[in-house]
Amino acid sequence: MKDNILKDRSLAAEGERKINWVRKNMPLLRILEKDFEENLPFKGIKVVVSVHLEAKTAALALLFAAGGAEVSVTGSNPFSTKDDIVAALDKRGLHVFAVHGVPEDEYRRHLNAALDLGPNIVIDDGGDLVNLLHEERKELLPGVYGACEETTTGVLRNRARQQEGKLEFPVVAVNDAWCKYLFDNRYGTGQSTLDAVMRTTNLLVTGKDVVVIGFGWVGKGIAARMKGLGAHVTVIEVNPVKALEAVMEGYSVMPMDEAARKGDIFITATGNKNVITADHFEVMKDGAVACNAGHFPVEMDLDGLKKRAVHTEELRENVFGFLFPDGKWVNILGMGNIVNIACADGHPAEIMDMSFALQALSAKYLLENHTVLDKTVKKVPDDIDMDVARLKLQSMGVVIDTLTDAQRRYLESFRR
Ligand SMILES: NC(=O)c1ccc[n+]([C@@H]2O[C@H](COP(=O)([O-])OP(=O)(O)OC[C@H]3O[C@@H](n4cnc5c(N)ncnc54)[C@H](O)[C@@H]3O)[C@@H](O)[C@H]2O)c1
Repeated sequence: MKDNILKDRSLAAEGERKINWVRKNMPLLRILEKDFEENLPFKGIKVVVSVHLEAKTAALALLFAAGGAEVSVTGSNPFSTKDDIVAALDKRGLHVFAVHGVPEDEYRRHLNAALDLGPNIVIDDGGDLVNLLHEERKELLPGVYGACEETTTGVLRNRARQQEGKLEFPVVAVNDAWCKYLFDNRYGTGQSTLDAVMRTTNLLVTGKDVVVIGFGWVGKGIAARMKGLGAHVTVIEVNPVKALEAVMEGYSVMPMDEAARKGDIFITATGNKNVITADHFEVMKDGAVACNAGHFPVEMDLDGLKKRAVHTEELRENVFGFLFPDGKWVNILGMGNIVNIACADGHPAEIMDMSFALQALSAKYLLENHTVLDKTVKKVPDDIDMDVARLKLQSMGVVIDTLTDAQRRYLESFRR
């Protein structure tokens, strides 16, 4: 392997402190770690991890290492990479290639350096590693048992590749597990996006008009948390069922052309491109704030915004102000990058505990079954999903009922 690529080794102590804090709050990963250390399921296996590279991701990478794997790590977006965490992983002896804020070509160089490991298992977030393996690193394909995909956008990309008949290994859609999207996409993004908007702007949310674009799992979580803090929430949707759901939840629903004039804070959560256009920015109020919680920084037309602005300035860390000819400012958080990670610390540790337990168990499932799995996008097996929920409840001290034999027989009598 090449030498590790990182910004500053002296940041390792701070990174280690952050990793220790999240590990204290990730009980499922600790249970899995004990098991992996005893049984070494990944002994002799090479695992590459490309997920937003912050403290919780480091805990996942260290879990694979505890299970005997040789691990290489990179970030899935240079703007979410935390240099202190990279330094801590470097000190722990993992192969790590990531620097915060690097341009696209260098980011791709880091992905490639991580892939040089020749992985058997790929942990991906957004589909860039899987894409690279299929497009540019085909020589590594024979060694790959499969991949686990963390997010909605990556699952969509992998399904598109499967439909073209070009998927060369099985991919487990970790995003689509109940214990992922119901908690991570909804509550994790809800809380951490609110955190990002508040800590980046230090402005009031209460009483503001907040426009949430996209009412999928991410949008639902953001809308609920913004409402909880006293904002008036407007939802923008293209899917009539989701729009109706938003109406019944008590939100205003209207077209973006209308909401653009009304909102104080705009948050995109669609996984789609240009849902806020340059024309929308043009009619926004002075001081409007816009940010993106979707995976890729494509949801706002920032090129169009740059062309219309006469001046751009970083007004506060991660608050990029764009001045219009009429004297109005529009503020973009984190330059359109995934705001809860680029401008805050990402999901709470207890949420990533579940998402990453699913990742680790799905990786083990791939390892044990890769010879019989076909090259398609797969569900996380239900028993893994249920085990994660069961263990999480146990770690929270919550006990639930079980069906009696008579109840089970009664319910099963309908399934003929
Ligand atoms: N920030 C995070 O930490 C985080 C966490 C999980 C997922 N994500 C990402 O967030 C994005 C959304 O994920 P999700 O799980 O909510 O997906 P989803 O498919 O459940 O929801 C997306 C919604 O956007 C709507 N939409 C699409 N185009 C639109 C348009 N032009 N205008 C209005 N609405 C539109 C769709 O109808 C859908 O309801 C994805 O890119 C995903 O990868 C981010």
